[in-house]
Amino acid sequence: MTHNELQSLCEKMTLNEKIGMVHGAALFKTKAVERLGIPAFTYSDGPMGVRPEYEDSAWIPKNLSDDFTSYLLSNTALASTFNPELAYEAGKILGEETRGRGKDMILGPGVNIHRSPLCGRNFEYMSEDPYLSGAMAVPYIKGVQESDVSACVKHFALNNQETRRNDVDVNVSERALFEIYLPAFRAAVKEGHTLGIMGSYNKFMGTYCSHHPYLIDEILHKEWGFDGITVSDWGSIHDTVEAGNAEIDTDMRVTDNFDEYYFAEPLKKAVEDGRVSIEKLDEKIMHILNVMNELHMLDGERKAGTYNAPSSGEKLLKAAEESVILLKNEDKLLPLDKKKMKKLVVIGDNGSRLHALGGGSAEIRALYELSPLMGLKMTLGGNCEVVYEPGYYTRVTGHAWGRDSNSQWIDFTAVKELTAEEIASLNVKYLESAKASCKDADAVIFIGGLNHDHDVEGKDKDSMILPGGQDTVIKELLKIRPDMIVAMIAGSPVDMHEWLDDARTLLYYSYNGMQGGLAFAKVLFGEVNPSGKLPTTLPLTLEDSPAHSLGEFPGNDAVNYGEDLYVGYRYFDTYGVKPAFAFGHGLSYTEFSFGELKASVKEDSCESGTCSAPSLSVRAALPVTNAGDRDGAVTVQFYVRPVDSPVKRPLKELRGFEKQFLKIGETKDFTKEFDAYSFSYYDEERKCYVTLPGTYEICAAFACDDVRSVAKVEIGREYTISR
Ligand code: BGC
Repeated sequence: MTHNELQSLCEKMTLNEKIGMVHGAALFKTKAVERLGIPAFTYSDGPMGVRPEYEDSAWIPKNLSDDFTSYLLSNTALASTFNPELAYEAGKILGEETRGRGKDMILGPGVNIHRSPLCGRNFEYMSEDPYLSGAMAVPYIKGVQESDVSACVKHFALNNQETRRNDVDVNVSERALFEIYLPAFRAAVKEGHTLGIMGSYNKFMGTYCSHHPYLIDEILHKEWGFDGITVSDWGSIHDTVEAGNAEIDTDMRVTDNFDEYYFAEPLKKAVEDGRVSIEKLDEKIMHILNVMNELHMLDGERKAGTYNAPSSGEKLLKAAEESVILLKNEDKLLPLDKKKMKKLVVIGDNGSRLHALGGGSAEIRALYELSPLMGLKMTLGGNCEVVYEPGYYTRVTGHAWGRDSNSQWIDFTAVKELTAEEIASLNVKYLESAKASCKDADAVIFIGGLNHDHDVEGKDKDSMILPGGQDTVIKELLKIRPDMIVAMIAGSPVDMHEWLDDARTLLYYSYNGMQGGLAFAKVLFGEVNPSGKLPTTLPLTLEDSPAHSLGEFPGNDAVNYGEDLYVGYRYFDTYGVKPAFAFGHGLSYTEFSFGELKASVKEDSCESGTCSAPSLSVRAALPVTNAGDRDGAVTVQFYVRPVDSPVKRPLKELRGFEKQFLKIGETKDFTKEFDAYSFSYYDEERKCYVTLPGTYEICAAFACDDVRSVAKVEIGREYTISR
C-alpha cells in the first residue's frame, strides 16, 4: 500500500479502533480492526527462539505439544563467534520460526552493553563493545526481517543492570552515551533497518526511557529517522500524557487489566480532552500501519515461515561450534584423542544440565537441547565408558515463569530447596565419588559455570564467585588430575582466580543453543578447531572491573556511570589492569602467523577546512598464514589508536574485524575499509562525532592484548559525522 492509502486507512478508523491498536488486548497482542482488514499485531520473546505460548490474559504456560521450537544461541554466544554470517543465519532461522508460529514481531536482539559482570541479563546482550554488538546485530536483524516479521531491538536504552531496573535513574555522560551505549542501537536502525525498538524500564536523567523526549523523539526518531514501531517494555510506560505525546507506539504490560493500560481508556480520555492530540495518536497508528504494510499484513502475499526445519539444526551446530572459546591449552592437552578413550569422566552440573527453559523472558521450550554429556556420548559411541559425576550440589530448576491463581510469580518447575546441612553432606559425598571415579580415567572433564538461576532476568548476581563451591571442587580435583580439562558455561564472567594457574586447559562459552553439547564434544575431540573469541573481558576478580572498582554498581535510586568511556577492555587496556583473559582472546589448535599490516589513506580534496564523512577512506590489509598443522578459522581484530590525541580517549578501540577459514599452509588477506567514524570521538559541544587530523595507529590483533602488526596513518583534516 502507498503512504496515502495507509493515511486514508488511518482516517477511516474510529478513536476506539485506534486505541485498540496501541495497547495490549492480551499479554502479547493488540486488537484487530476487522472492519478495515487490519489484523491484531502479535509479539513473542525473543531472543533465543520463539517463546512457548502463554494464556492470553494470564502468565500460565499453555504447555502445548506443538510449541517446542529451535533453541538458538544466546546473543553473547553469537557475538563470541565474531562471525556476522552466522548472526545472519541465526536471525534468518529466528525470523522463519517467528512467522511459522504466526507472530509478527520477535523481541530481540538485545544490544545493551555488558557494563558489569553481575548483570543478570548479560547473556541476552552481545558484548561490552559497541562496534561488535552493532556488527553482529545488523545481519541478525536483516536475517529476521527476511521472513516478513519484525525484529525488536531492546532495551532502548541503558538497561545495564537488573537491580531496581524498573526505575533506577542512570547518570551517564553524553560522551559515554554516544560512544558506548547508543552506537549499537544506531547501527541497528541506520544499517539494520530494524522495524521495531523496545524502550527500557529504567530512567535516564530523571525521566523514564520509554517515553523520554530526548532519547525517543529527538535521537531515535528525528536524528536517526526511525519510523518503525517503538514498543514499551512490558510495563515501562508510567504516564499517559507524557507517553502519549512521545513517539512510543504501544503500551504492553504484564497484567490483565487491559482496559486500564495507559494507552487504553486513559489515552482515549486524554485525546478527547486534548491533553494528547489526535495527530500524536495518528503518528503512532501510522508507525504501526507502516510496519504492517512492510510485513505484508495488509495486502499482498505474506511469507508463511516454518519452524523446526531440519536444516536449522545443522546451521545452529555450526554457530555453536564457533561460539566455543579456547582460553588456555598448555602442552597442547587438547584436543583429546577419541581413539584412546576407554573411560571418560565428566564432572559438574553443566555437564548434564539443560538451559533452554530458563532466564526469564528468553526461555524456550527447545525442540531438543543436547547437553555436553549427550554430545560426548554421541561422539564417542558405545566403546567408551562415560561416567557422570555431579561433583557438587546444584538446585534443580527450570524457571518456567508464570503467575499462579493468586497472581503470584512462581517458577513452575522449582523443586523444594534442601537445607544447608543436607547440601553440605551431599557435597562431601559428590566430591569423594568424583575423586574416586577420575583416578583410572583416560580423561577427566569438569564442566561448571553458571545457569539461569544466576544469568536471569529480574535480578543481578551477588558476586562473580562460582556457585556451589565449584572452586574447591576444581582445586581438589586438579590435585589428583592436573590434566583435568576445565570448561565453563556461563552467560557472564565468573571469577576463576583461585585455580586458574593450575588448570592447564580452559574452555568458555555462553548458552549456545540446542546443539551446544555436540559442538562442545566436537571441539574437545578436534573434529572442530575452536575459533570463538571473548566478546567481553574476563576480569580476574569483580573488584578489577571498572564499575566495581569505583563502587558504582548497582547504585541506589540512581546509578552513576563513573567509569565513563572506560567500559570493559577500554578500561583494562588504558589503565594497564591485567584481566584473567582479555577481550577478543580465544585460541586455536593451529598457529596463525600475521604478516605486515599496510594501510593507505584516501582523502577527497575539499574547499573548506572541514569535509563531510564520506570523503575519508582508509584501507588496511594484512596477510595471515595458517602456520600450524590443522585447518582452522581466525579472526583478525582491527583496533584504532589515536597517537597524541588532544582529547582524552581510550588507548585503542575495536573498529573492524574479519574472520576467515585457512587450510594448513594457506595465506589469505584480511582487509578493512575504515571511514571517518572509525577514528572519531563524540564531541559534547558540537553534538556530533569528530575525527581530528593527526596520526593514528591501526592495530591488527589476535586479541585485545595481542597486537601483532601496526600501521600508522596520517589524517590530514577534520571530519564531522552526525550522531
Ligand atoms: C522483558 C522484555 C520482554 C518482555 C516480554 C519484559 O519483562 O524485559 O525483554 O521482551 O518482558 O516478555
